[in-house]
Amino acid sequence: MREILNWTRGYFKNAGIVQPRLEAETLLAHTLGFDRLHLYLNPDKPLTAEERTRFRKIIKQRRAGIPLQYLIGEVSFFGLRFRVSKEVLIPRPETEQLLEQALRLAPRNREIACLDLGTGSGVIAICLARFLPRATVTAADLSTEALGLARENAELNGVLDRITFLESDWFEHISNAFDLIVSNPPYIEEKELEKVPAEVRQYEPRIALDGGRGGIERIETLTGGLRGHMHPGGVLLLEIGNGQGGRVVELLNRAGLVEARAEMDLAGHERFVIARCP
Ligand SMILES: C[S@@+](CC[C@H](N)C(=O)[O-])C[C@H]1O[C@@H](n2cnc3c(N)ncnc32)[C@H](O)[C@@H]1O
Repeated sequence: MREILNWTRGYFKNAGIVQPRLEAETLLAHTLGFDRLHLYLNPDKPLTAEERTRFRKIIKQRRAGIPLQYLIGEVSFFGLRFRVSKEVLIPRPETEQLLEQALRLAPRNREIACLDLGTGSGVIAICLARFLPRATVTAADLSTEALGLARENAELNGVLDRITFLESDWFEHISNAFDLIVSNPPYIEEKELEKVPAEVRQYEPRIALDGGRGGIERIETLTGGLRGHMHPGGVLLLEIGNGQGGRVVELLNRAGLVEARAEMDLAGHERFVIARCP
């Protein structure tokens, strides 16, 4: 194992993979069906021919640019485990920050109705259900495949009975109103899409990335449908792209929300917009 790990680290490094040792270890542990600690405890364990063949196949796929998370089929998000596949966006750390804000702003002294619009793998909806014991949650997405995976993840995390899954083009099939709406919509500007790393552009679903003209076309449609879907005093949190804050705040003001403001992520980029229903 030690030898094969050293070799793979070099193979990945030459391919420009940023954390070659970590990725080599993660993929070897995955191939062998145990966790990374095991690699440290048994560095001299020989691999069988069959294990070597499987490992060779997976490291070639990684070198070709397939994201690590799709190869191992899972991610950790907010301390929980989620399955991911090429049908859904790989959840990002910025979205953990969005969720942190949502949990801080959510009322805890009463039952609340929450909505995750564009749920993808279900990370936001599932964390809301897990960390807000008095919340009932609706998770909506346009993608049937994403909803299937989100449902699996809800079961994996023990909150399947707390979440309603809906196939809907934003608010199209949503009839009720909510106290908390959280969404990480697609917000990459159409022409910027060509510049994002090939790993993202080629492998992550376009429907999860493409924000249309100016990057805010989807956000415009979504905010246009807000009316009637928020309870008075309800809070909306959106993840946005850097530089979109002013335009999104304007859209929310137009939608009748108040106190709309853009906030930064930990890297100092404009990343979230928060607003309240009067
Ligand atoms: C940026 S991804 C976010 C996924 C997940 N919530 C997360 O934070 O990792 C955007 C999601 O919006 C969904 N989506 C795109 N267009 C939509 C639409 N018109 N109606 C509903 N969902 C849509 C995509 O399928 C995708 O799952």
